[in-house]
Amino acid sequence: MNNIKSMVLNDGSTLPSVAFGTVNVKGALGLYDVLNAIESGYRLIDTSTNYHNEGMVGEAVRRTAVPREELIISSKLPGAAHSYDDAIQMIQETLYRIGIDYMDKYLIHWPLPKQDQYVEAWQALVDAQKFGLIKTIGVSNFLPEHLDRIIEKTGVTPATNQIERHPYFNNKALVNENKKRGIVTEAWSPLGREINDVLENDTIISLAQKYDKKPAQVIGRWNIQNDVLFVVKASSPQHQKENLNLFDFELSDEDMKQIDSLDKGEPGRVEGQHPNEYEEYE
Ligand SMILES: NC(=O)c1ccc[n+]([C@@H]2O[C@H](COP(=O)([O-])OP(=O)(O)OC[C@H]3O[C@@H](n4cnc5c(N)ncnc54)[C@H](OP(=O)(O)O)[C@@H]3O)[C@@H](O)[C@H]2O)c1
Repeated sequence: MNNIKSMVLNDGSTLPSVAFGTVNVKGALGLYDVLNAIESGYRLIDTSTNYHNEGMVGEAVRRTAVPREELIISSKLPGAAHSYDDAIQMIQETLYRIGIDYMDKYLIHWPLPKQDQYVEAWQALVDAQKFGLIKTIGVSNFLPEHLDRIIEKTGVTPATNQIERHPYFNNKALVNENKKRGIVTEAWSPLGREINDVLENDTIISLAQKYDKKPAQVIGRWNIQNDVLFVVKASSPQHQKENLNLFDFELSDEDMKQIDSLDKGEPGRVEGQHPNEYEEYE
């Protein structure tokens, strides 16, 4: 369906290069959005304990006609559960909430270096994978020093690192650091979550006109051509379809560079969430 390109991870598993994001996708309306997204062709659903919608995602898994084994459910460990025992129990609790007996993919949501428990949290994910509770393990918002520390302490490299990335904050150095370690980058808030106006940017609009595509599709394609997984939220069924329809055109090298040049560095972050400073201990 939609010829969505697959990405091969360092643990041998594969993921589609577009995921359906679920921030603020909640309750009965959210359920409708997720069911629509699956119907449109999304197979990878990105949730988190902190999104307060794992139960709804589980309801979508039960209601859709698409078999469980074709869906890839991904969730994230909250900051309050970074100790080893809490992390193992939170993974089990997430499975109960979603109503499935294994997670396809699971990430540590934030490193929270001030709390400094992300190494034991990572050990819990490594062990949960060994117990068969999770297929693919990864992290989110980890900087190179956090990655190196967990790799050194456990001998296990995350398969993915989900990080903030959109044209105003392209996070290129971290994308390259991930690549160097064999880690696939996933881009969160790739359209700037309507907090910034990247979809109205003149360069993006003129490229959309040039390729007869929508601005969001230009940004999606820029990620795909950088081997970055596009984690995008859309409630509108039309947006959902557009965001999957990225595989019948190719941006030139010059146009890729033009998008790279929109980067504003640190001030470009949507909500100033630097991974060494941002705290969520929910
Ligand atoms: N790991 C982390 O720390 C972290 C942090 C933030 C987000 N995330 C993940 O990343 C996902 C995506 O980020 P996000 O939800 O912040 O925002 P986003 O995907 O950057 O933007 C979503 C907004 O863009 C609009 N949109 C989507 N497709 C469009 C299109 N084709 N044309 C025009 N507008 C379009 C949506 O509108 P409609 O809804 O009206 O269609 C929605 O308002 C999240 O849902 C979550 O799964 C992870």
